[in-house]
This record gives sequence, C-alpha cells and structure tokens, in this order.
Amino acid sequence: MSNENFIKNILCIGAGYVGGPTMAMIAAKCPRYKVTVVDVNAEKIKAWQADNLPIYEPGLLDVVKKARGRNLFFSTDTEAHIKSADIIFVSVNTPTKMYGAGAGKTADLQFWEKTARDILRVAESDKIIVEKSTLPVRTAEAMERILSSNGKGIRFDVVSNPEFLAEGTAISDLENPDRVLVGSKETERGRRARESIVEIYANWISRDRIITCDIWSAELSKLVANAFLAQRISSINSISALCEKTEADVKKVAHAIGMDSRIGLKFLNASIGFGGSCFRKDILNLVYICEYYGLHEVAEYWENVIKINEYQEGRFVQKMIHAMFNTIANKRIALFGFAFKANTGDTRESPAIYVTQKLAEERAHVVITDPKAIRNAEQDLKDIREYVEFETDPYKAAQGAHAVAILTEWDLFKTLDYKKIYENMEKPAFLFDGRNILDHRRIFDIGFNVYPIGKPPLMHF
Ligand code: NAD
Ligand code: UGA
Repeated sequence: MSNENFIKNILCIGAGYVGGPTMAMIAAKCPRYKVTVVDVNAEKIKAWQADNLPIYEPGLLDVVKKARGRNLFFSTDTEAHIKSADIIFVSVNTPTKMYGAGAGKTADLQFWEKTARDILRVAESDKIIVEKSTLPVRTAEAMERILSSNGKGIRFDVVSNPEFLAEGTAISDLENPDRVLVGSKETERGRRARESIVEIYANWISRDRIITCDIWSAELSKLVANAFLAQRISSINSISALCEKTEADVKKVAHAIGMDSRIGLKFLNASIGFGGSCFRKDILNLVYICEYYGLHEVAEYWENVIKINEYQEGRFVQKMIHAMFNTIANKRIALFGFAFKANTGDTRESPAIYVTQKLAEERAHVVITDPKAIRNAEQDLKDIREYVEFETDPYKAAQGAHAVAILTEWDLFKTLDYKKIYENMEKPAFLFDGRNILDHRRIFDIGFNVYPIGKPPLMHF
C-alpha cells in the first residue's frame, strides 16, 4: 500500500515492552493506519526488524509478522517520522528518579521531556500527542505547556491513554482488554482528539469497553490501578506470615476469601513478593504526589504496600538461611527462575535479584536457571559474578546443591522430576517454594525438607 492509501500516520516513540507489542497489535488490527515505532536504541530497532525480537512475549512474533513491512515499521529516524505523523504515542521509560528533588520516589521525566522537545523542534503540522507511558498526574499539563511554546502556530492536543497490559500475557491483554482508557481535555478540540484515539481501538474492541474521561482522571487511574493490584499482593503476603505462625494455609485462606465475589479470586497468590518494572515505581510515584499535596497519611498508607513487599522478600531469605543451620557459606543453592514472573524474560525489580544478592553476601554459591531470563540476569548480577553461575538445565543446576528455591512460577518447574533432582543433591536437601507451585506433601515424601510460603514447613527432623 502506498503512503497515500493510509488514512493516518501513527508514530510511537519508545520500542520497549509497551511500545513494541501495543503498536504491533494496532498495526495488525488496523491495516489502514501506517504505524512506525522509533527508538534511540539502534540495536533494539534492528531486533524488531528481524525475528529475534528484543523481548520475549508469547504470541508477539506472530502479531509482528502479520503487519511488519505492510503497515508496521521500525526505525531510528525519529525526526523524519515526527514530521509525517498525525498521532504520536509516547511510550518511553519513566523510571524512579534517583537524584535531586524527589530522589527515590518521583518519576524521572527526563526521557519524557526530551521527546516533548524533539516533537516541538521538528514538527511542522498539528498533531495529537498520546501519553502511553505511565506518568504522574498532571504531566499532560507540563507537556502541553512545552509544546504550546512553539512559535510556528502548530496545535498539539495531548491525550492520556495509559496501558494496562501485563507482561507474559501482553498479546491477549491487548487483543481482549478489560478496558481501554482515553482521557483528554473536556474542550471541543480535546474531545475530537480523544475520539481519534477511540476510533483506533474501536477497530477491534467494543465501544462499551473504551472508557473516556478527563485527562487528570486517566493519568491518576493508571497509578491507582497498579497500586490496588500491588496492595492485594501485599495483603495476602502479610497474611502468609501469619499463616506460617498459626498453621493455617494461605492458599486455603485466599480461596475462602476470594470466593466472596466482592473480593474475587485473582491476584491473591502469596509469593516471595511482587517484582516488575512498574508496581514499585508507580506506588512510589503515588506516595510522592500525596506528600506533595500534604496528604501524609495517604502517602504512608500506600508506602506500606512497598514495605510489606520488602518484608516478604527479606523473610524468604532469612527463612532459607535459618533452615540451613544459619550458615550457607560455600553451599551450592539452585534458584529456579529469575524473571519477575513466568512467561517473560524481564527481570526488572525481580525479587530474584534481592534473593541472589543476599545469598551472595552470605558467600553461598548461587546457580541460576531460567528458560528466558538468563541474559538479563547476567546483566543484573555483573557486580557479584564470582558468586553466581548460570545453567540452562535445571537438573544440572540442582546437581550437588544443598537447596533449590523456586523464584518464578514457570510451568516447566512444576513438571520436573523432583525425585531425580533429590537423588543428585546434598543431604539434607531443602526446597523453598517461593511461588507455592508444587505439591508439597509429594515433595516432602521424596525426602526434601519443604518450605512453602504461608504454610508451616514439612521437615524430616
Ligand atoms: P522500556 O524501557 O522497555 O522501553 C522504553 C523505550 O523508550 C526504550 O527502548 C528506550 O530506549 C526508549 N526511549 C527512551 N527515550 C527515548 C527517546 N527520547 N526517543 C526514542 N526512544 C526513547 O519501558 P516499558 O516497559 O516499555 O515502559 C514504558 C512506559 O510504559 C513506562 O512509563 C511504564 O511505566 C509504562 N508501562 C509499562 C508496562 C510494562 O508491562 N512494562 C505496562 C504498562 C505501562
Ligand atoms: C502489572 C499490571 O498487572 C498491569 O496491569 C500493568 O499494566 C503493568 O503492571 C505496568 O503498569 O507495568 P506486570 O508487572 O507485567 O503487570 O505483571 P503482574 O502480573 O501484575 O505481576 C506483577 C508481580 O506481582 C509479579 O512479580 C508477580 O509474580 C506478582 N504477583 C502477581 C504475585 O506475587 N501474586 C499474584 O497474585 C499476582
């Protein structure tokens, strides 16, 4: 199709975990839009152009292949594509700021602001700018201020369209989302810009699941959605500590409370703690905003969600050390899983990083196995490389080990031959199930001393 046959040019700045899959889905579902994704990272763009994609996401390659070269393109030429774009999605990273005012809490908007200035410098025609990145509430206001400082008479309409996909299920989340949220200014122009974005999604999502609202509510809803999800995990994790003291079983408690339709069953899996690039950063961001507005009690309330998460990670490592007779120096410990959750290679904020660091501090010899995350793990652990070994085969990882700890709930780890693993380990052999994915009684009967989350341990001594 020649350029003239496309009804609109969409550009996405940022070809990461959100920009790549989201734009691939839009391109696959909307053949009449030309979708281009740009990034400053040339290596990443090269990977998107080939079949060795820069991120692992089930089903993603099929979606990319459906549209790539037809109406989906990847490029490093940001300037040229800003010029020709009608709609620009900005999906750059917004990590926690680690310097200056708000360090350790607020979002670092330097990448965000840079894109605003690039657009301002290069644009020659009116454009709709879509906030796809997760941003502090009222960022759109700053964006609009920067953009309207152009002396060229160009109009920019800023729309908020936060992304709710979860990694590992990104393709089904994008294809069949619970909802899409589009916020804009409640002016005629704002509503028109909003409708342009709604029109894109309406190509495959029914309109009753596309919510529209004012821009501030859209921005805040994203932070609040992540805060509520993380809060559920911290709530059940806090109860897991109590279960371990009282011989209750956290899985049974979660089931019993989750059957109440007002509570619901999802997101009640007790674990070593939540990881991922966003929960912690978005809650910290929420906390910072509350503090900024003088809402200290509200800030403290949400900060506790993070504190419980840190407590849970710390508890897990302490349990390991304590169970293994308070000394793990020179003991081989196999970690099954390093990704922050199953079905992704992403290790950002993975609890496995913390666990490995703590075990290395105790001078343990840590062997890490993961079907997709070893490359990222090597990067994360480069400072403690001497204590760490990587092994693709879980059986080899566990060979001669004193303990196996399950840190990621990959299906693969549910179906391993634990009898074989046990036979090749040092005795007494320990198994710490940080995801509660195994049949603990069966594992105990094989001979392991088993330490689940939120259940009393099963010990042979
Ligand atoms: P990412 O780090 O995977 O991708 C961001 C990309 O932006 C990087 O490839 C980086 O090189 C690029 N970039 C930065 N500055 C640029 C510039 N000036 N020009 C061109 N490219 C630039 O991050 P991500 O996980 O995709 O997250 C992006 C945003 O989406 C964040 O705000 C995040 O909070 C939000 N979000 C993430 C998820 C998720 O599952 N990862 C889900 C929902 C929302
Ligand atoms: C999360 C949200 O689910 C998405 O809606 C949101 O778009 C995204 O953050 C974001 O803004 O980045 P994601 O972090 O990819 O998605 O994955 P989740 O499935 O939410 O899991 C996050 C962490 O919580 C993982 O470490 C997971 O193992 C843990 N978790 C999840 C539990 O410990 N217990 C549970 O019951 C559920």
